[in-house]
Amino acid sequence: MRVLISGAAGFIGANLVMQLLKREKAVDILGIDSLNDYYDPAIKDFRLVEIEKIAAEHSDSKWTFVKGNIAEKALIDSLFKEFQPDIVVNLAAQAGVRYSITNPDAYIESNLIGFYNILEACRHSYDNGTDGVKHLVYASSSSVYGSNKKVPYSTDDKVDNPVSLYAATKKSN
Ligand SMILES: NC(=O)c1ccc[n+]([C@@H]2O[C@H](COP(=O)([O-])OP(=O)(O)OC[C@H]3O[C@@H](n4cnc5c(N)ncnc54)[C@H](O)[C@@H]3O)[C@@H](O)[C@H]2O)c1
Repeated sequence: MRVLISGAAGFIGANLVMQLLKREKAVDILGIDSLNDYYDPAIKDFRLVEIEKIAAEHSDSKWTFVKGNIAEKALIDSLFKEFQPDIVVNLAAQAGVRYSITNPDAYIESNLIGFYNILEACRHSYDNGTDGVKHLVYASSSSVYGSNKKVPYSTDDKVDNPVSLYAATKKSN
């Protein structure tokens, strides 16, 4: 099983990589992360060290890390071509509601352009009769429910009232 995980040095991504290494046999994981400084990058470096330790204990599996930006189409296309993932988990995103007011660029880049690049790479993974990506997972956000008054939220609720750019980009995904 070949799994491509974006945002692999992030909170959820790094924990997913570690759990896959521990639970699955012979899993080949390619992690991508830009290691941006939205919060202290030392935390991301620490997570990568922890992943390396667990990978060393599971030699039947393979772990490869690429520092890169999912908004770079040529990079994403070449990684998909070389690695040919069976499963893609897109966790690379610019999170945060307040930050999107002062730094909208980061959301357009990662959550719209980056997300689009991942979708297109998945679509083209079937070109020329090749075995393409069988499953794509990505993380939405409870912020898509915006100013809805009804709690608890349900995935059947309307998501027409985003109150931040973060929420709007997640809804568009
Ligand atoms: N943690 C939560 O409570 C929560 C809640 C709802 C949704 N989410 C979503 O889950 C996903 C993962 O969240 P997290 O908590 O692990 O966040 P995180 O910020 O810890 O991890 C995201 C990682 O993606 C990387 N990244 C950002 N933009 C990138 C880009 N353009 N190219 C490559 N790497 C990039 C960052 O460097 C970071 O390491 C995100 O999509 C987030 O919006 C998280």
